[in-house]
Amino acid sequence: MITEAAVPTKRNKMPDWSAIRADFPILNQKVHGQPLIYFDNAATTQKPRAVVEALRRYYEHDNANVHRGIHELSNRATAAFEAARTRAAQFINARSTDEIIFTRGTTEGINLVAQAWGSKHIKAGDRILLTEMEHHSNIVPWQLLAERTGAELVYLPITGDIGLLDLSRLDECLTKPVKLLALTHISNSLGTINPVADLCARARQLGVTTLVDAAQSAGHRVIDVQEIGCDFLAFSGHKMCGPTGIGVLYGRQEVLEDMPPYQGGGEMILSVDFQRSTWKHAPHKFEAGTPDISGAVGLHAAMDYLDKVGRVTIAQHDQELGAYAYAQLSRLKQGIRLFGPHIGRAGLVSFLLKDIHAHDVVTVADQRGVALRGGHHCNQPLMRKLGVESTARASFFFYNTTAEIDRFVDVLGEIQKFFGAS
Ligand SMILES: Cc1ncc(COP(=O)(O)O)c(C=O)c1O
Repeated sequence: MITEAAVPTKRNKMPDWSAIRADFPILNQKVHGQPLIYFDNAATTQKPRAVVEALRRYYEHDNANVHRGIHELSNRATAAFEAARTRAAQFINARSTDEIIFTRGTTEGINLVAQAWGSKHIKAGDRILLTEMEHHSNIVPWQLLAERTGAELVYLPITGDIGLLDLSRLDECLTKPVKLLALTHISNSLGTINPVADLCARARQLGVTTLVDAAQSAGHRVIDVQEIGCDFLAFSGHKMCGPTGIGVLYGRQEVLEDMPPYQGGGEMILSVDFQRSTWKHAPHKFEAGTPDISGAVGLHAAMDYLDKVGRVTIAQHDQELGAYAYAQLSRLKQGIRLFGPHIGRAGLVSFLLKDIHAHDVVTVADQRGVALRGGHHCNQPLMRKLGVESTARASFFFYNTTAEIDRFVDVLGEIQKFFGAS
């Protein structure tokens, strides 16, 4: 039976959050004369000193191109780059480092699968099953593939504002012509945590290939690709304390070996002739050109940092902040419309204040030092389904506090007064 995502029940001993917060110098500043409250973590997270320091150290001591040189610095850069791959494999419990492809982020990871795997395995009449809560990054690459091949996209519906997947519709959606199921682990607009392991197991029974978009989950909870049982999983370093421009695509080794390259160029070849080339094994055949070496070094430091804080603890704190924010917002006297599940939600809240545009909420909140996001959050089809153009969103990370949420809720009350909302 498919159940809702498990909420951690046993409470872990919580670390000293104020000491952890001190690792993020950027948080200690005023914006428009007010203490910064950074609630835009679903867009990108802040970076701890350990990550900034790893980047500085790399550029001051080890910088060179990888895999090509025989000199000391190139060897060091190569060792650092490959150590990051080993760390990423361990971070998500991949069976082998060969299953870790470095990408620019989640978006590139999904595009890589759509192009390299999709061009070989998808043909006219096949179906690709997505869900109505997908980010554009997990829709548009499949639309491009469908246009090229004549395949069809189908969507597992959600249950309205509560924003759970409507699992009663799974059987009718996951049928024989479906060749791929691609879905998000955590919704960036709703805060829904999807039961990805159960859904991947169902897909696997039917021989359907699976991809999990872990952009919003990789930095927020323990990810175990063997437990999830997916064929692909993509995430972005910058949403988990790492630098921008680096991400990971996990692919099951047999699936990767069976795929043609994604891009051609240096680094991915075995030999090149004027007419033909041969390429390396995975993951290198998918990494054409000079990779983001410093990004991988920074991501390595980020993964170490997250594990030092403790990912089980982070998940617990996240859910506590999400639940606290949801409860506090529900108490706002004048109208508020809240999106996403009541319980078991991730650390983010999406909402609309009655008669006030989300952009106005975000603009006035910014004047009070609170960084929110307003808009469609790259979820236009989901917004249409909900019958709205946009929402305002507050998204948390482990360095945020309930005191910040209290201040944020006060600010929303002030905004309602300011706009004279009835
Ligand atoms: C659920 C989800 N998927 C994919 C992405 C795309 O991530 P990136 O822009 O880092 O490639 C995001 C970014 O917000 C996201 O929230």
